[in-house]
Amino acid sequence: MSFKDKLDLKKVPQHVAIIMDGNGRWARQRNKDRIFGHREGVKSAKEVVEAAGEIGVKYLTLYAFSSENWQRPEHEVKALMQLLVQEITEELDRFKKENLQLKVIGDLSRLDQDVYNAVQKAIDETSNNTGMTIIIALSYGSRQEIVNAVRQIAQKVKEGRLEVSQINEQVFANHLYTAGIPDPDFLIRTSGELRISNFLLWQLSYTELYFTKVLWPDFRKEQFFEAIYNFQQRERRYGKTSEQLEN
Ligand code: FPP
Repeated sequence: MSFKDKLDLKKVPQHVAIIMDGNGRWARQRNKDRIFGHREGVKSAKEVVEAAGEIGVKYLTLYAFSSENWQRPEHEVKALMQLLVQEITEELDRFKKENLQLKVIGDLSRLDQDVYNAVQKAIDETSNNTGMTIIIALSYGSRQEIVNAVRQIAQKVKEGRLEVSQINEQVFANHLYTAGIPDPDFLIRTSGELRISNFLLWQLSYTELYFTKVLWPDFRKEQFFEAIYNFQQRERRYGKTSEQLEN
């Protein structure tokens, strides 16, 4: 029996975020180069998008490229960007047909013009879609995102457009790249690493965390459903007691 059949479709996390890790190791185990692993990883990303859609996830965030990833060898950065442009371009029609919306979070000013254009085109052409939102974290770093928010807020205070006393959690969140997107309910990280790696530090405050040793290219629909099943066995208390939640 598939884990999908065991799921309670009334308790599906609204927002799932994923750190897709382990492409390099998967390739090395097969004596292939790292790019081979990334290509296989794209297949996993597609399967997971499909699986998330099937069970009614509303937001799916995929960590595709971190601000630290710019330090990788130039040919790997190039290959990853190329893969991304290729996928976004090839999948755009399907996104439109299936009513999916694409958003990107990160410092897009660092992208090459052709990458930026492809990304922006897909964002623009899906912006009115009302189905699942796919959020790609690209050139993304959470500390940078937070510093960026602080700067915008400071500027508004300086210009007299915002009072210091008006700054609260909601105002702060509205200045993050993720403004308007609910916080993730569930974070999945593949490949056995037990780290957050500068991903959504503010937004993950109450998120349920799930770590699996499965390498990303091996993480397909069934592994995704298994993770969601695991989520459904948990109780989210937000600092309260079980008894309080029952009442
Ligand atoms: C981590 O594996 C993976 C990445 C840094 C890139 C993830 C990108 C993709 C799966 C392709 C693009 C995705 C989309 C949304 C089209 P790693 O290289 O860190 O692996 P390692 O830790 O084993 O070296």
